[in-house]
Amino acid sequence: MEKAVIQFIIVGVFSGLTKGAGVLPDGPLNETLGGTMAFNATVIPPEQTFSFVQWQFGDKIIINTATGVTADYAGRVTLFTSTGSLELRNLVLNDSGEYNVVIISQDGSRNSGNTTLEVYERISGAAVTSSPNRPIEGISVNLTCDAAAGSISLSRLWKKNDSDLILTDNMALYEENRVLSFKSLNKTDNGKYSCEISNPVSNDVAQYIMIVNYGPENVQIEGPSKIDSGKTLTLTCSAESEPSASYTWTLNGTEIHSSSVFTKVISGFSDSGNYTCQAMNHITERTSSAVHQVTVTGIQGETSGCSAGCIAGIVIACLAVCAAAGGGGYYLYTRK
Ligand SMILES: *[C@@H]1O[C@H](CO)[C@@H](O)[C@H](O)[C@H]1NC(C)=O
Ligand SMILES: *[C@@H]1O[C@H](CO)[C@@H](O)[C@H](O)[C@H]1NC(C)=O
Ligand SMILES: *[C@@H]1O[C@H](CO)[C@@H](O)[C@H](O)[C@H]1NC(C)=O
Ligand SMILES: *[C@@H]1O[C@H](CO)[C@@H](O)[C@H](O)[C@H]1NC(C)=O
Ligand SMILES: *[C@@H]1O[C@H](CO)[C@@H](O)[C@H](O)[C@H]1NC(C)=O
Ligand SMILES: *[C@@H]1O[C@H](CO)[C@@H](O)[C@H](O)[C@H]1NC(C)=O
Ligand SMILES: *[C@@H]1O[C@H](CO)[C@@H](O)[C@H](O)[C@H]1NC(C)=O
Ligand SMILES: *[C@@H]1O[C@H](CO)[C@@H](O)[C@H](O)[C@H]1NC(C)=O
Ligand SMILES: *[C@@H]1O[C@H](CO)[C@@H](O)[C@H](O)[C@H]1NC(C)=O
Repeated sequence: MEKAVIQFIIVGVFSGLTKGAGVLPDGPLNETLGGTMAFNATVIPPEQTFSFVQWQFGDKIIINTATGVTADYAGRVTLFTSTGSLELRNLVLNDSGEYNVVIISQDGSRNSGNTTLEVYERISGAAVTSSPNRPIEGISVNLTCDAAAGSISLSRLWKKNDSDLILTDNMALYEENRVLSFKSLNKTDNGKYSCEISNPVSNDVAQYIMIVNYGPENVQIEGPSKIDSGKTLTLTCSAESEPSASYTWTLNGTEIHSSSVFTKVISGFSDSGNYTCQAMNHITERTSSAVHQVTVTGIQGETSGCSAGCIAGIVIACLAVCAAAGGGGYYLYTRK
């Protein structure tokens, strides 16, 4: 029993000496730019007093119990002599690297350790940009995920509609996930894309709402193909389009209206013809048309511009002229 305990202690000391890292935690330790790092030494068994403690950054001495703090580190470090631990404040990026400690106890036993520190800038200003700017169906688009600050040793994770992104045949990731590339945009690519940029000390998320512009396609005109004179013709044009299309109507090649619904009180046969609706998408800069033939029927329409009173007026006027003509003729005749 006693033998087993002694063996354990010997093994423990032996492994501590050979490993070297022993009294410091395994690295890398990660801290934020401007932050504070506490390098905790764990000397076992803990000593009340050490005869000597020295910390180094690479080959450079930071502080030791014999000569004190090195000028470069003045005001930034505190050495805790009871534990051998070191606090390093106001971290700068070039504080990243390997730190070593040597601790010599009163009895002359020596402990040492090393670990590495990585100082990271906090990530901020993450953004996703689309190139080209306007996503249009059928074209190739790249979404690029970048951060304004903290661009050291970061990783990126893409999501679509808050779920892990599943790459389709149409998509690819480049530059360690910085660029999400679509070979040929499809309406099915619509959705909310997010990119999370992270490093060991921070993360930031950017979003991009993808609305694929397309069309116009499937232009359709609704309305009668035959109509009586005097009735109101209503033709309605529609198209599938993102964003919504604008519409232009032409009759026999002449522009007559510019919105989706065309209405007109039919005044005669000249309203017959081929009504064309052209849909235009100002983002895709594409157009598409449909033609609808309307035939005007019914003869009463020709006089429909004139009410009953108007017709009566014409008749009376005619009678008056005829009477005048007849009377005048008689007068001329008698004078002769
Ligand atoms: C740090 O410790 C590792 C073992 O953990 C050792 O291989 C390495 O040589 C040590 N580095 C220094 C500079 O002491
Ligand atoms: C520091 O970050 C690295 C990844 O870069 C990670 O492997 C390591 O475990 C982190 N260290 C600690 C102490 O969390
Ligand atoms: C060192 O110890 C302090 C106090 O217990 C703790 O807050 C800190 O996280 C430790 N540092 C590391 C690198 O583990
Ligand atoms: C780190 O860089 C700063 C300037 O940015 C310099 O003053 C300082 O001496 C450097 N520290 C080390 C440990 O190299
Ligand atoms: C998208 O990114 C890839 C890789 O960087 C590049 O090869 C391709 O030309 C880019 N495409 C567009 C549309 O910017
Ligand atoms: C978009 O994707 C659907 C389903 O995968 C496919 O049927 C369609 O042809 C695609 N459209 C284009 C324009 O590639
Ligand atoms: C993602 O969300 C958009 C908009 O809410 C929706 O149109 C699309 O179908 C969704 N896509 C997936 C894969 O769930
Ligand atoms: C349009 O063409 C039709 C058929 O040729 C014709 O009957 C109609 O008068 C024309 N209308 C106009 C306004 O040109
Ligand atoms: C109207 O369209 C029809 C069918 O496309 C065609 O037969 C006819 O000649 C067209 N009429 C005019 C006036 O363009």
